[in-house]
Amino acid sequence: MATTSGRKPGIFAIRDVGTLITETTEEGHGLKKAVGASQLTAMGVGAIIGTGIFVVIGEGAGIAGPAVILSFVLAAVACAFSALSYAELASSIPVSGSAYTYTYATLGEIVAWIIGWDLILEYGVSVAAIAVGWGGNLNAFLDSAFGVALPDAIAKSPEDGGIFNLPAVFIVLAITLLLVRGVTESARVNFVMVIIKLSVLLFFIVVAFVNFGTGNFQPFAPAGVNGVTAATAIIFFAYIGFDAVSTGSEEARNPSRDLPLAIIGSLIICTIFYVLTAVGALGIASPDQMKESDAPLAAALDQGAGISWAAGVLALGAVVAITSVVLVIMYGQTRIFFAMCRDGLLPERLATVNQRYGTPARLTIGLGILIAILAALVPLSEIVKLVNIGTLFAFVLVNIGVIILRRTRPDMPRPYRVPWSPVLPILGVLFAVYLMTDLPIDTWIRFVVWLVIGVAIYFLYGYRNSRVRKEAMAGRQPDGPAAPTQPEDGEPR
Ligand code: ALA
Repeated sequence: MATTSGRKPGIFAIRDVGTLITETTEEGHGLKKAVGASQLTAMGVGAIIGTGIFVVIGEGAGIAGPAVILSFVLAAVACAFSALSYAELASSIPVSGSAYTYTYATLGEIVAWIIGWDLILEYGVSVAAIAVGWGGNLNAFLDSAFGVALPDAIAKSPEDGGIFNLPAVFIVLAITLLLVRGVTESARVNFVMVIIKLSVLLFFIVVAFVNFGTGNFQPFAPAGVNGVTAATAIIFFAYIGFDAVSTGSEEARNPSRDLPLAIIGSLIICTIFYVLTAVGALGIASPDQMKESDAPLAAALDQGAGISWAAGVLALGAVVAITSVVLVIMYGQTRIFFAMCRDGLLPERLATVNQRYGTPARLTIGLGILIAILAALVPLSEIVKLVNIGTLFAFVLVNIGVIILRRTRPDMPRPYRVPWSPVLPILGVLFAVYLMTDLPIDTWIRFVVWLVIGVAIYFLYGYRNSRVRKEAMAGRQPDGPAAPTQPEDGEPR
């Protein structure tokens, strides 16, 4: 509901936190509350560990040398400040939509739309790219385990010399079906995949430490501090995902306690695994050996420790790891879209919950098909940086959101509070901006183009159809009954 009722709210209309929470209980619009603390933490780990540690680490080592270890620490610190802010907002506004919803409640509609549009880049576009990485690892696994591989024509995008990427399409559609089936089922499948991928990384760490040598650590930082920060801006990708936990806050059984636990817990678990993996990898392989491979961890075991059969284990681990990233990030995308549709900034009729499964089935299938088409045709490269800049931008706004909401709604119940606010949220902003400035100009241009397209869509569609504006124009009082809605498989009410 707009704070400005009775006259037409402007583009900075704010949604009231209380109303946002009330709407989640509307019939046909409320998602099933089914997920507990350990499953939420597993969702965080599920979204985080994937292409970044299995693939992008090689690029980071190429830029920073062994000091890529410091890049992993630095990226974790940068994320930690923002994770605390996400935890505060997720616990106090347990509504689907993550940074989009928080911004709607703090900075106003147009900023919320921009961040929602930005999150479509972080989630939707990255799922397509991650699915492509999945296909590559599947082929690597088939090759090392059975000596067969899919032909390029059906395993690569046109830009990479193929026609279309069948494995990428397959994984996106399979995950779509799982997500339609239910959040409980999805969370269970994710839990198993998380156990497998942590085991594979543990296997890597143990083997690496058994064969550990210090020879590759000299020179430690050949590209100096600049090399370390440039690598941080890239391997930051490996940490993306803890925020995905907050996209589905509405489905948490006990959001005020479990969301902060899951967001911060998953980040800590992944940081420990990442730093040990990076130290282990450099203990057995040189940055050059890692940089030149599409599967740097497998290359490290093969060339560094002479264990060639391990490549198959690592490729299988990567396939499982990336499957769960696709699952959780795509889940996040559907919930952000759902929130944007429910607010009328995207077609409101899509924000319906399937009565049988308790999930936004229609929306999930539509998005799944769009992402599958994209996945069939895009290459992985460049997209990592684009996704990074989009995510860092979301972090900036979430940290600012904490500071603003503390001033505008000082009495709001906050089951979890960021300590030393506003110092830590300000540090979160500074770290995120710093890493953004380390990304290349091309990435900035693409990002700005994406945002300009988003703003155009807002003025053509969202501004006119926004629920806040429609209700204010209809002269409705704040906290009045919801607009008539239509359940997915029912009659209009
Ligand atoms: N953090 C996720 C990954 O590395 C996006 O695949």
